[in-house]
Amino acid sequence: MDVRRLTDRLGGLAFGGDYNPEQWDAEVWKQDDELMRRARVNLATVGVFSWALTEPEEGRYAFDWLDAHLDRLHAAGVAVDLATPTASPPPWFTLAHPDALPVGPDGTRLTHGSRDTYCVAAPAYRLAARRIAAALAERYGDHPALALWHVHNEYVSLCHCDHAAAAFRVWLRARHGSLDALNQAWGTAFWSQRYTSWEQILPPRRSQWHRNPGQALDYSRFWSDETLAAYREQRDAIRAHSDRPVTTNLMMPGYQSLDLWAFGREVDLVSVDHYPTAPGVDAAAHAAFDADRARSFAGGAPWLLMESGTNTVYVGDRVLPKEPGDILRHSLAHIARGSEGALFFQWRQSKAGAETWHSSMVPHAGPDSRTFREVTATGEAVARLGELAGSTARAEVAVLHDSDAWWAMNVDGLPSAELDYIGPLRRAHRALWDAGLTVDFAHPERDLSRYRAVLAPALFLLTDAAAENLRRYVADGGTLLVQHFNGIVDERLHARLGGYPAAPLREALGIRVEEHRPLARGEEVALSDGSTISSWSESLRTEGAEALAAYTHGLLAGRPALTRHAFGSGHGWYLSTRLDDASYTALVGRLLTEAGAAPELPGLPAGVEAVTRHAPDGRSWHVLINHLDEAVPLPQPGHDLLTDGTVSRLPAGGCAVLRAIVNAHQAPPA
Ligand code: GLA
Ligand code: GLA
Repeated sequence: MDVRRLTDRLGGLAFGGDYNPEQWDAEVWKQDDELMRRARVNLATVGVFSWALTEPEEGRYAFDWLDAHLDRLHAAGVAVDLATPTASPPPWFTLAHPDALPVGPDGTRLTHGSRDTYCVAAPAYRLAARRIAAALAERYGDHPALALWHVHNEYVSLCHCDHAAAAFRVWLRARHGSLDALNQAWGTAFWSQRYTSWEQILPPRRSQWHRNPGQALDYSRFWSDETLAAYREQRDAIRAHSDRPVTTNLMMPGYQSLDLWAFGREVDLVSVDHYPTAPGVDAAAHAAFDADRARSFAGGAPWLLMESGTNTVYVGDRVLPKEPGDILRHSLAHIARGSEGALFFQWRQSKAGAETWHSSMVPHAGPDSRTFREVTATGEAVARLGELAGSTARAEVAVLHDSDAWWAMNVDGLPSAELDYIGPLRRAHRALWDAGLTVDFAHPERDLSRYRAVLAPALFLLTDAAAENLRRYVADGGTLLVQHFNGIVDERLHARLGGYPAAPLREALGIRVEEHRPLARGEEVALSDGSTISSWSESLRTEGAEALAAYTHGLLAGRPALTRHAFGSGHGWYLSTRLDDASYTALVGRLLTEAGAAPELPGLPAGVEAVTRHAPDGRSWHVLINHLDEAVPLPQPGHDLLTDGTVSRLPAGGCAVLRAIVNAHQAPPA
């Protein structure tokens, strides 16, 4: 489906957020209309938590209130992103269907009283979800306010109930074909775990010690597939009545319960929620990380920032406000990377209920507040960027990202608790971000030939096909950096024998790892080049590669730690340990120089973020964000859409969106 249909309908990029008018009264609704106009809101997500109102008892629908809000918003010039309310079943539902409440791995069944109290594998829940999605679509499928469908809200909850167990068995039969194959895959020959009938198999519930890793990994795969099936049912029920695009807002957390590549293929428009977990420039880097992931899950196409915390930064056990200007800077960080707008959670800060203290576009203090003034300024800025609709960012470098590899690292019994999936990914992205590059994430089995450099920070699990793909990428001229504890197991979690990593990768890297040697927590030792390492080391041998740095401690003294291998027409680099930040950034810089990867807009100092959006017709724009405390001259003056004037410098903390000058040789295709 052509996502231009959303921006065409809006007449530009989207600006707005979750709107829950059922918390308020007519006087506030009137004020909302006026304030939304002032803030240039053109899209409101309605109905996310409205199940109890819309279906007050099983099968009886009450749409009058929703009719009134949709008509009012339409009259106020605000389009609607209409949500199905299935993320929060009302009390009547769970009382009627207690078997649809989720069960934890320890067997505890949750109760209602919060939200997300459902099991996607429970037939009663699935039926109820399909029914209400269809009822909403039938009623509002061509409502003039309707611009987008928002199925559910952040599919995240996990369940280990008997419905889930039954569905898991069906999934396992399809995946493994026979019990013999399953027993082989899961290594049940060990610990007397052999299954002799499908009915014996359970979800990986709490047990005495390590759970079977194959069972745990398959359960993660199954759960993602089951959740995707639940999404598809709602999507298809909607499509039967409506031609508007359908999405579900994907959470971009540091943990993982869904295969977001698969979701990216099933939605009409990828939409994501982003909440930063550190203040200042780290928040900007985090926004870039999630935005680059979102574009990648969208296959490089434009996508949508569906939610972000208006004035919220989650830091440890407290919630901090954003720094002045961050609402605009963070919004632009997403738009720069292909978001078709910037939406927030939520429009008006709740005065009661579970999220009373979550920041919003209109805070408790009301419109006479710093937050609302910044929201309005951001709305005005986004309104000036309409010509960016339909364009997207491109990258010359990629970081490999695979749900299976992520899930695989969650199994019990790995050799170090410091082995992590998302941390190394964020670190690799950060080093590339610091170098001024836009980054794609790529699945390890896809064609990588368009990338000058590819980083593999965390691929503990690597299929034969992926290992061969990486070998070919290097042979054909690519520059690949593989990091420690990668390529260790296949898709069944069976260890690679004869030395790590998987054979085709060993060939490309010109090394063979013989032994893993985790360092003690907090231990730091030096490499021969003066860099500091922590957490991990490996005993490895070069088989054609040159050693760029060696270990200096203990048994490994003099043995290679960092290697580089000329293979075919490319280079395979291997880093067998965890480098300190500065040395890691320097290593990535070296690699980028060798690979010829450079920022699209050269000449800017570190600390100034610059991303280019390209339209299919050849036009492009540079989105610039100055994270420094000082003004920065631009390499050349340009026309800035935000001020509609020529700019030659960026003030401290300032932003600009420059129309790129099209060179004759870059003219759009006829
Ligand atoms: C104990 C058990 C073994 C094995 C080892 C190593 O000694 O008896 O079966 O699990 O620990 O973990
Ligand atoms: C998520 C949810 C929202 C809200 C926000 C803020 O993104 O989708 O409903 O709860 O978090 O906490």
